[in-house]
Amino acid sequence: MLSATEIPSERLLLRGALHDADREGFVELHTDPEVQAYIGGPQPRSDVERRFDAAIADGTSRSGNYVIADNTTNRLVGTLMLAHRSADRPGHVTEDGGELELGYVLRRGAWGAGFAFEAATAALRAATDELPDQPVLLVTQTANERSMKLAARLGFRPIGTFEEYGAEQALCTAPLSVLRI
Ligand SMILES: CC(C)(COP(=O)(O)OP(=O)(O)OC[C@H]1O[C@@H](n2cnc3c(N)ncnc32)[C@H](O)[C@@H]1OP(=O)(O)O)[C@@H](O)C(=O)NCCC(=O)NCCS
Repeated sequence: MLSATEIPSERLLLRGALHDADREGFVELHTDPEVQAYIGGPQPRSDVERRFDAAIADGTSRSGNYVIADNTTNRLVGTLMLAHRSADRPGHVTEDGGELELGYVLRRGAWGAGFAFEAATAALRAATDELPDQPVLLVTQTANERSMKLAARLGFRPIGTFEEYGAEQALCTAPLSVLRI
């Protein structure tokens, strides 16, 4: 698992810690119907606020989970996850499961500027620096064109599809060593 608590890039800072000032952006990410269109749908604001409060009170960051922040304003642009995909979920390329999986979510206003690509390449570079070569997964709804495009640009290859959450999911993968970093 990635141990870095902060990963810098040209325009961004990936930080493990959630800050009080992230509330507005965090709530927007989870309640915006367009952002949530392919990842489970918008959630009730009160539930999201409660989760945010719990995460702030807890104070510890979940390893592999990062806030993508603008490195000049520190404003939350999105979130990124590079963590193990639980073996009991569908979508694996190894017998035992638990492979590293990449996921990303940007605020709607931050789409179209290359931020997700920049954040993902920075996280994958950090992973390459500290972890042995291994397969990395990216699972995204086949209908999620922006995400499929980003996956391809990063060097992931679709190898099949499966059903999860009532939708067709594309299982994409590549060895850490050949991803676009
Ligand atoms: C998936 C998602 C992160 C993609 O965001 P994105 O901004 O399209 O992705 P990228 O960071 O790769 O940016 C690519 C776009 O930025 C443009 N761009 C501008 N400046 C750029 C730069 N410096 N570098 C790269 N791309 C740049 C590209 O031309 C491209 O534009 P286009 O959409 O008009 O083709 C975003 O749509 C999202 O958050 N969706 C909701 C969450 C979700 O579905 N996540 C998937 C679950 S894994």
